[in-house]
Amino acid sequence: MTSVPASVVRKPRVMSGMRPTGGLHLGHLVGVLTQWVTFCENADAFFEIADLHAYTTEFDDPSKIRDARNEMVAVWLAAGVDPQKSTIFLQSAVPEIGELHVLLSMITPVSWLERVPTYKGQIEALGQSVATYGFLGYPLLQLCDIAIVRGEYVPVGGDQQAHLEFGREVVRRFNHLYGNGRQILLEPQATFSEFREVPGTDGRKMSKSYDNAILISDDEETTTKKVRSMITDPQKLRRGDPGRPEICPVFALWRFVNPLSLNGIAAACRSGALGCVQDKGEFAEELNAYLRPVRERYAEYRDDPARVERIIEEGTARTRAIASEVLADVKDAMRLT
Ligand code: TRP
Repeated sequence: MTSVPASVVRKPRVMSGMRPTGGLHLGHLVGVLTQWVTFCENADAFFEIADLHAYTTEFDDPSKIRDARNEMVAVWLAAGVDPQKSTIFLQSAVPEIGELHVLLSMITPVSWLERVPTYKGQIEALGQSVATYGFLGYPLLQLCDIAIVRGEYVPVGGDQQAHLEFGREVVRRFNHLYGNGRQILLEPQATFSEFREVPGTDGRKMSKSYDNAILISDDEETTTKKVRSMITDPQKLRRGDPGRPEICPVFALWRFVNPLSLNGIAAACRSGALGCVQDKGEFAEELNAYLRPVRERYAEYRDDPARVERIIEEGTARTRAIASEVLADVKDAMRLT
């Protein structure tokens, strides 16, 4: 068998994004960014600062979105996302996305958008004030982010699956109406991380809005305090009581930070030899050691905004070159040229 030189094997195009709303945490780091780092090696990856999406719910606080932009990218870079091997871009600086959104809105039934579970769910959670036209169109804008670079694989959390399915339907409709037998747009596929849910200090999914998150920007003392406040097995009241590691969020977090220690900790917890106070103390140290290099690199990028902005500008220019071609294909298919 002859081997094919790596340079001629096209890498799959991966696209993902995050909204700059501040407060990146351990859940982002181990649940999302570690995966993004591997995509830098084995895919042609595009990572988007989804600032327009942030406006769908936080339109009343533009300064917050603006400040969160560099901070978020500083965490990406600190986590190891390599701007030489991937493309980091700013959504609002790629006007082709907005134009594609208008074009696709012409063929997108409102009922499809109303059916997306996050729409009703978020309005119930956040109130009628977020029920804007832009918010309804959130999943369509997300599809445009992906389609504008012809993204094939989209690593996202479980709650985003419905957005991807909606997007695939719109793509099918577009190709059916205008493709003349060709796939002008690609149907993107969701991929899920091995570690989808990372529990926060209260055992619910780690999220800044639940106030249960261990932030990358926290200092070590704050981290230790948060770990000490974590809930554990409620039936294990004192050392000596047998514990159930499978329901303990501290145990769940050990898995990300030091997987090799899991068996020993589980056995010691079950037998009662290990108390929760001691376990949390050891975990806090281990967690701070794990986060230390990330936090150090984060501080370097945070203190050098010009460098971060250069990376965003270069990636955005690269993205626009592709986006203009895709948009031209779409307009051509729609007989708008
Ligand atoms: N909706 C995504 C989230 O909240 C963020 C996002 C915006 C995104 N555009 C995207 C994710 C495109 C993947 C692809 O997590």
